Amino acid sequence: MACHMKEKPSAGAQGSMLAPPAMGVMFNLKKAFSNNKKETLAFMQDYVMAPTPEKAKCLPQAIKRFGIMPSMKDTITPEELVLVTEYMYAAFPPAGFEHKR
Ligand code: HEM
Repeated sequence: MACHMKEKPSAGAQGSMLAPPAMGVMFNLKKAFSNNKKETLAFMQDYVMAPTPEKAKCLPQAIKRFGIMPSMKDTITPEELVLVTEYMYAAFPPAGFEHKR
């Protein structure tokens, strides 16, 4: 949550964001994997431990703006990662979310 904010970014927050907000990340991934939960979680659980530009599903502008995300392999256990990714899948995007580019 330090990087992927849970809220919709306010105009003022845009400049200080370190990463795409959680709702945007999950909106894009659910679209990329046609709402297939198993495939989305498998992608996330691999990506978070070993991110590369080639694997990324987010828009190229996101990587240009924020850079590639740091690996969480020394920060989170595989068990914790399952819980975090299940949570992200269930909670984002919130009902009524509309994506703005
Ligand atoms: C357990 C913690 C985290 C999870 C589950 C997570 C998850 C994700 C996911 C699923 C994506 C999208 C990948 C894609 O669509 O291609 C992403 C992107 C990104 N994350 Fe994280 N993240 C975590 C921690 C962090 C942290 C701590 C930072 C900042 C220090 C960060 C910075 C970024 C950035 C800059 C991107 C966009 C560029 C990219 O896709 O690599 N993330 N993250």
